[in-house]
Amino acid sequence: MLKLGINIDHVATIREARYRGCNHGEPDPVAAAILCVEAGCHGITAHLREDRRHIQDRDIFNLRKIIGTRLNLEMANAPEIVTIAMKLKPDVVCLVPERRREVTTEGGLDVMKNRKSLATTRRKMNDAGIEVSLFIAPDADSVEASAEIGAQFIELHTGKYSEQFKMKRGRNTELRRLVDAAELGHRSGLKINAGHGLNYTNLSVLHRVPHLVELNIGHSIVSRAITVGLPRAVNEMLALMKGYRA
Ligand code: PXP
Repeated sequence: MLKLGINIDHVATIREARYRGCNHGEPDPVAAAILCVEAGCHGITAHLREDRRHIQDRDIFNLRKIIGTRLNLEMANAPEIVTIAMKLKPDVVCLVPERRREVTTEGGLDVMKNRKSLATTRRKMNDAGIEVSLFIAPDADSVEASAEIGAQFIELHTGKYSEQFKMKRGRNTELRRLVDAAELGHRSGLKINAGHGLNYTNLSVLHRVPHLVELNIGHSIVSRAITVGLPRAVNEMLALMKGYRA
């Protein structure tokens, strides 16, 4: 069954718009995560950014304490955050590139260039019982380098696919890249996740990408929740994922 991990950063973004610098405020991402889990999602994803623009340290430690389901910590491969992850012990970390001025994670990791430091962190996490996923663009070099490093998962960046979705040619090109990357990753022994920009409209076509284990989706679910409520927004997404054949 294709699993749904819900990225709850966007809930924290709304809170920080009003309560930045305070140690409290609403909406609470942990309360939102509880609703998502009750509605049937399979995991919670949170990105503790170095600039702490949305999720705060207290959020991830509260999530770890309160949420029984699989916790995926998205993070940069930066010493401060690595130390926090070792203390937090999420089930899995997803290593992502971070740029201060980006609105959201804009590209995949440069695995080839950062091979050595990524391999060191991968080993450290695995030794602590934490699985490692690498957020990469769907290209062969990144997939092969991820396998060499020994990651358990890759998360294929679906941002370009989402951007091109309304353009038939662009969409087919991006879909082909995702299919090829998923096939290569599977042959290389990697488990395959995907995420970024996925929504209620572009999900059905993504069913053509094989070997997917989990989708990480945030913005579209939190946005829809504003009008229909979180439980219904989660359920609608789960319904669209049903019937996926890996
Ligand atoms: N996966 C990763 C690695 C991400 O950085 C993000 C964005 O925070 C997501 C998934 C979810 O993207 P979206 O919010 O567009 O659904």
